[in-house]
Amino acid sequence: MTQDHTAPPGGAQTHGAFRLGDEFGDETVHADLRGQRSYHDFLELDKILDAQPTITGEHDEALFFILHQVKELWMKLMLHELDAAFLHIRNDDLRPAFKIFARVKRIQENLIQAWHILTTMTPADYLKFRDGLGRSSGFQSYQYRSIEFVFGNKQPETLAPFEHRPDIVRRLTERLERPSLYDEIVMLLARRGYAIDDAVLDRDWSRRREPNDSVIAAWQDIYRASGEQWGLYELAEHLIDIDDLFQTWRFRHRNAVERVIGHKIGTGGTSGVGYLTRATAIRLFPELWAVRTGL
Ligand code: HEM
Repeated sequence: MTQDHTAPPGGAQTHGAFRLGDEFGDETVHADLRGQRSYHDFLELDKILDAQPTITGEHDEALFFILHQVKELWMKLMLHELDAAFLHIRNDDLRPAFKIFARVKRIQENLIQAWHILTTMTPADYLKFRDGLGRSSGFQSYQYRSIEFVFGNKQPETLAPFEHRPDIVRRLTERLERPSLYDEIVMLLARRGYAIDDAVLDRDWSRRREPNDSVIAAWQDIYRASGEQWGLYELAEHLIDIDDLFQTWRFRHRNAVERVIGHKIGTGGTSGVGYLTRATAIRLFPELWAVRTGL
């Protein structure tokens, strides 16, 4: 047995396997990864860990950029999951959609928790590099807009900042013009025999829909008879949870922003906290909230 000179004390390498220290008994790990795809390769870590920009070299830039990138990755997963849920709903298959919603909610919780990390940055630390950000802002997150479109909060005006990127406009327009996940759920209600107005089922999908009485009445029936409509009731409760978590994300973002920049105007051009405060009033599924009052 030959001793590996790079191995820590206690470890030993033999036939491409590396024996861990004595405290691990006979445990070995693969040491010869030549010609194999390693953890590093699969995760494309050279790309990911080299993708953090530097504008001034100030210490807290790392937190700022990594937090944004991590959130974008979670949003990517959310979209992946929600697109799959869309197809399950279209196929009248609620169980796998519920499994996805449970995961989406965990992701949302994670996204909310992450604001606590941001608030460890002092206003003065952020001001050291804020000017370097120019006009860039989370307002230009196309994945965030995509998620809003998936849930039905469609505002075509929000495409404006992407005019210089026709590829992104194309992707967002595609999502804008097709039914949202919630539209698809309302179509499911119609298939299950609830009397939904035709104007709801066949319309210009690119517009956010105002609450509709026939949809509210359907949800009311479901809530009243949850014992017989267990699946649809559970579906409604998943949606309410998601809406609640989304609003909590907006609220935490708004508060984190006020802690860091007070009432300064946003780099994206809005009034800043004033705009974000108004956004906290948005409900993704207003009909499901209206149901409560009418029961
Ligand atoms: C110091 C940290 C941050 C500050 C000061 C800040 C500030 C702002 C402000 C002022 C806006 C309104 C648009 C504008 O005029 O710029 C905004 C929007 C937004 N920010 Fe942040 N933000 C911060 C961190 C983050 C992070 C970490 C994310 C994660 C992705 C994020 C995502 C967003 C999104 C998605 C919007 C659009 C919200 C909407 O239109 O409803 N922000 N941010």
